[in-house]
Amino acid sequence: MGSTPDRIALVTGAGNGIGRATAERLTQDHAGVVLVDRDAEALGWATADERYVSVIGDVATEETNTAAVAAALEKFGRLDTVVLNAGVSWTGSLEDMPLEEARKIADVDLWGVVIGTRAAVPALKESPAGSIVVTGSISGTGADPAMWTYNTAKAGVHGFVRTASWDLAGHGIRVNGVAPGPIRTALTGYIETDAPEAYAALAGAIPLGRWGESEELASVIQFLASPDASFVTGVIVPVDGGIAAGTGQFHPGTALSRSAD
Ligand SMILES: NC(=O)c1ccc[n+]([C@@H]2O[C@H](COP(=O)([O-])OP(=O)(O)OC[C@H]3O[C@@H](n4cnc5c(N)ncnc54)[C@H](O)[C@@H]3O)[C@@H](O)[C@H]2O)c1
Repeated sequence: MGSTPDRIALVTGAGNGIGRATAERLTQDHAGVVLVDRDAEALGWATADERYVSVIGDVATEETNTAAVAAALEKFGRLDTVVLNAGVSWTGSLEDMPLEEARKIADVDLWGVVIGTRAAVPALKESPAGSIVVTGSISGTGADPAMWTYNTAKAGVHGFVRTASWDLAGHGIRVNGVAPGPIRTALTGYIETDAPEAYAALAGAIPLGRWGESEELASVIQFLASPDASFVTGVIVPVDGGIAAGTGQFHPGTALSRSAD
């Protein structure tokens, strides 16, 4: 891989799931990684390792994002890769969900990305290969039941990735996203335990026939962040076992058979 060994990364939501797997993966081609999470205990996995610095806070605030960038510059002297991944999700009807609950999803999932980008740009401008990778969602491309606020926020994230890629291209900063399908993490764990039938049904709707793992996101994020993707900006890569390739008309296992006349 054409990487610069002293590159430094920052990953939000690094306490669990996709963020943790990404932070661990990025140590392959980065000398240090700043980990951001609101859950101090969840970052315990990294405390004994010199390659990591932890920043505890809510990504929906400017304070946390500014502190995370400052930590990169203070401890490592630079910042090259920023992975804006922290996200929350819960369901509720459009008519009844309390507005403050709905707004919290947008504050974290969309505004956390906007604020995180703005905080990082001055440092990324100093990098020879500044790169931002954002975790969107397949849910940002359409509708899911009772997930209107999450899907709306993620659609905004996808729009932000595209527009930010143009606004920051003049500084040589690339901005890309990933759109995960169903991935087995703490965020989705309740489906496997509380609704095993829904869990199995969802697996059946994925052409590859199973849920994805956090490491399968981490490897794509690493590629997008790396100089190997140096001419790639403004894209959102589906990492969903093939769901996004479908039209939605047929279940992936549908057996159709009709011969030519
Ligand atoms: N798991 C999936 O199936 C799936 C699918 C599509 C998209 N995503 C997206 O992937 C990203 C990561 O999700 P995951 O499944 O790894 O979740 P996860 O719950 O396993 O991990 C998310 C981490 O983010 C942290 N976090 C949440 N809100 C925060 C905040 N306001 N400030 C700081 N830290 C915060 C949590 O403490 C947690 O450690 C999210 O943006 C999510 O929307 C996940």
